[in-house]
Amino acid sequence: MTTGHIFIAVSLDGFIARQDGDIDWLMKQQTADEDHGYDAFMASVDGLIIGRGSFEKVLSFDDWPYHKPVVVLSRTLSDADIPGELRNKVRLSSLEPGELMRELGHEGWQRAYVDGGKVIQSFLRAGLISDITLTHIPILIGQGLPLFGGLDRDVDLEHRETRSFPSGLVSSTYRIRETGGQTR
Ligand SMILES: NC(=O)c1ccc[n+]([C@@H]2O[C@H](COP(=O)([O-])OP(=O)(O)OC[C@H]3O[C@@H](n4cnc5c(N)ncnc54)[C@H](OP(=O)(O)O)[C@@H]3O)[C@@H](O)[C@H]2O)c1
Repeated sequence: MTTGHIFIAVSLDGFIARQDGDIDWLMKQQTADEDHGYDAFMASVDGLIIGRGSFEKVLSFDDWPYHKPVVVLSRTLSDADIPGELRNKVRLSSLEPGELMRELGHEGWQRAYVDGGKVIQSFLRAGLISDITLTHIPILIGQGLPLFGGLDRDVDLEHRETRSFPSGLVSSTYRIRETGGQTR
């Protein structure tokens, strides 16, 4: 079965975007001369699983940013919503997280980059995430779309590494322990 891996930037107060999806605060902190490990992480995965919200944001960028296959999870989009030039790079799925990971496993995917707040939350709840690399951006935005959400049991994490950068970004990697925490 494919394993899920998270690599995401978050404001210090825990948001991945403003309420309307704006990530201006994130883009202005991007420093081209700092290597935060994104390229190495991307090289380590077979493809991406992203939510419809993240897909729609990425479609607003000038260029398609991914060089690996992308599965967009959506129960509302249809193939007609995928721009023609992306048809061989993007596919839609409405499978439940566990079913999707089994399907991708059969296709030979070993590691998937799981991205998008709601999708990350549902994969965490389903126990499908192996590790999380969280890059804290030194800014408070007060409100927005949260990275984490409700859980029906604790998720125990093992801290692996923290790196800080001259820009003020702080990146920490955690492994999800095999055995979960207290069940509610
Ligand atoms: N800070 C960062 O590094 C970072 C990274 C990624 C994204 N973002 C930002 O986050 C925003 C999007 O995040 P988001 O939390 O709104 O959305 P998301 O997780 O990207 O997408 C959520 C949508 O995915 C669909 N979906 C289908 N199956 C699902 C499942 N099992 N679990 C959850 N969702 C499922 C649903 O759309 P349907 O109604 O179509 O079914 C749902 O509304 C964007 O603004 C993006 O720019 C920031």
